[in-house]
Amino acid sequence: MSTTYLPPTGAGPDSSADGDPANAARSDARLDAAFLAAARPYWHPVARSDEVGPTPAQVRLLDEDLVLWRGPDGAVRLLADQCPHRGVPLSGGTVDPDGALRCPYHRWAFSGDGRCVDIPQEPGRPIPVVIAARAHQVDEHAGLVWACLAPPGEERRARPVFAEAEAPHWRRYVGTPLDWSAQAARQIENFCDVGHFSVLHTDTFGNPDAPTVEPYVVHRSADGWRLDMSYRYPGVNPVAPPGPDGRRPVADIDFSYRIELPFAVWLGGAHGPGSVLFVATAPTSATTCRVFWVSALQTDDPIDEAGLQAVEDLIWAPDQRIVESQRPVRLFAARETHRAFDRLAVSYRRALAELGFAGQPAVAEEPRYDRSTH
Ligand code: FES
Ligand SMILES: [Fe+2]
Repeated sequence: MSTTYLPPTGAGPDSSADGDPANAARSDARLDAAFLAAARPYWHPVARSDEVGPTPAQVRLLDEDLVLWRGPDGAVRLLADQCPHRGVPLSGGTVDPDGALRCPYHRWAFSGDGRCVDIPQEPGRPIPVVIAARAHQVDEHAGLVWACLAPPGEERRARPVFAEAEAPHWRRYVGTPLDWSAQAARQIENFCDVGHFSVLHTDTFGNPDAPTVEPYVVHRSADGWRLDMSYRYPGVNPVAPPGPDGRRPVADIDFSYRIELPFAVWLGGAHGPGSVLFVATAPTSATTCRVFWVSALQTDDPIDEAGLQAVEDLIWAPDQRIVESQRPVRLFAARETHRAFDRLAVSYRRALAELGFAGQPAVAEEPRYDRSTH
């Protein structure tokens, strides 16, 4: 892992209805503040587990720089990446054999709970407990390191669980994360958008002869945290050789989507029966995101990791290009048109708005679509 997180280039302002740039900036700032506040009480992935070792690494989440490292006991620590002495990023420091993180400027040392445990300039003098870097909740699951920036007990829901990634007789592959210059909500919406398969993905699984989206039903779980949808699609096998007619074979793919609000998706069937693709997208800021993905296959045999990564690279590329081009960047600055096949996106937007991601109702989009077509 790089020790310095390089954020994607930021998006420009979204224009306001009256065309006044000052109003647009104010309205964007309000939307971004609401988005970041709404996202704070959830668990988000910040790194791949296998990339976190005894060298401190900087990651970014919700517009905040964080430093994480693995201590000698194997546990991951996560602090705000800012020394309480003079504000230097702690990620530029080093880790002591006992697991304390030392600042690169005056070499103060901090334990995993953030407390300052050594000030070399004042040996033997007591260290007030108020000298501390801000510590955050951190956890590991499904090959990923997860963080919650809300204090313990203030999470709105538990960390998403990707059971297959930890199950016996399943193998997992943790893919290369992607940094998108796009809002996490737009990325998740794209990941669950079945209407673009036959347009955007014809070099992999997309079937150009099957643009029609058959009606489907969206279920919301009783507790409100999940949106489910099943969809059968006559997809092209992206890895099979072409037949005599030059075409690759087509077979029905049974996709099962389960959105775990706000920014994770469990997708059954993406890599064939007995497969699950799990996507968890971290809002690095209100308008940028880092997409983490993990694939799990029900097998005891080794996974062709390079092949899986290569196919997913091909699938992600056009998605990233399109989503980064969407305007407005901020989903809830948008006034867009919906059709019946956008039903899952409409449900998703409505759920996010309920959770506060749209800010004040005055700036929230009222989802609308033509019910007569369904
Ligand atoms: S700035 Fe970190 S120890 Fe001085
Ligand atoms: Fe796509």
